[in-house]
Amino acid sequence: AATTDLAGTHVVVSAGGTREPLDPVRFLGNRSSGKQGYALARTAAARGARVTLLSANAELPDPAGVDVVHVGTAVQLREAVVKAAADADAVVMAAAVADFRPAVYAPGKIKKQGDSGAPTVELVRNPDILAEISAERARPGQIVVGFAAETDDVLANGRAKLARKGCDLLVVNEVGERKTFGSEENEAVILGSDGAETPVPYGPKEALADRIWDEVVRRVTPAHAD
Ligand code: PMT
Repeated sequence: AATTDLAGTHVVVSAGGTREPLDPVRFLGNRSSGKQGYALARTAAARGARVTLLSANAELPDPAGVDVVHVGTAVQLREAVVKAAADADAVVMAAAVADFRPAVYAPGKIKKQGDSGAPTVELVRNPDILAEISAERARPGQIVVGFAAETDDVLANGRAKLARKGCDLLVVNEVGERKTFGSEENEAVILGSDGAETPVPYGPKEALADRIWDEVVRRVTPAHAD
């Protein structure tokens, strides 16, 4: 049955994976397809929210009825998140954000050095968008949701990450070369800063998205009840 429990809210979702350019032809990236974030955007729109989707390099069609902003790097994503979050009731960071970027962008393609030499790539830290928006809420009562992509000790790492990032909810999922990234299905545990722990069994990414919105709805107080 159709539900409009997000009517009157503005929600922001990030999706995909950032790409950090090394030179005009190469980048550091990750395996995110954007499917989990797009599922969050589609389900929120279906439940009546105004949705802004910040898409980092996802090769997926723009969902109908959703404002889509396309970005490339973590720095660009940060700018877009801060701007969109200004009047948002909830922000969900499903994007896989690079923690580091090359310190220098080479304006020309990096060449092989002699017969055996190889260049060293120096990295610098990227901004931690989730930690920043959690610490500096754009408006009181705004709900901030993060994801944690873990390969081992999933729950323990998730609990520690929730505390470190300062968000309200953290969706912990296990990832690997063929696990979660790019697939149609996912399983996760939704952790709350209030101690709540909601396991969501393996199933379509839409089903997990709907469970995440259920947890958001329980906590959100819409700013504009129009
Ligand atoms: O896109 P799919 O193929 O469908 O795959 C879905 C997914 C695995 C990408 C998704 O479910 C997921 O787990 N997304 C978060 C990936 C991630 O970057 O996890 P993390 O544990 O490295 O980061 C923790 C949280 O901090 C995330 O909400 C991330 O968006 C955020 N972050 C991370 C680094 C950074 N510099 N800034 C951030 O805001």
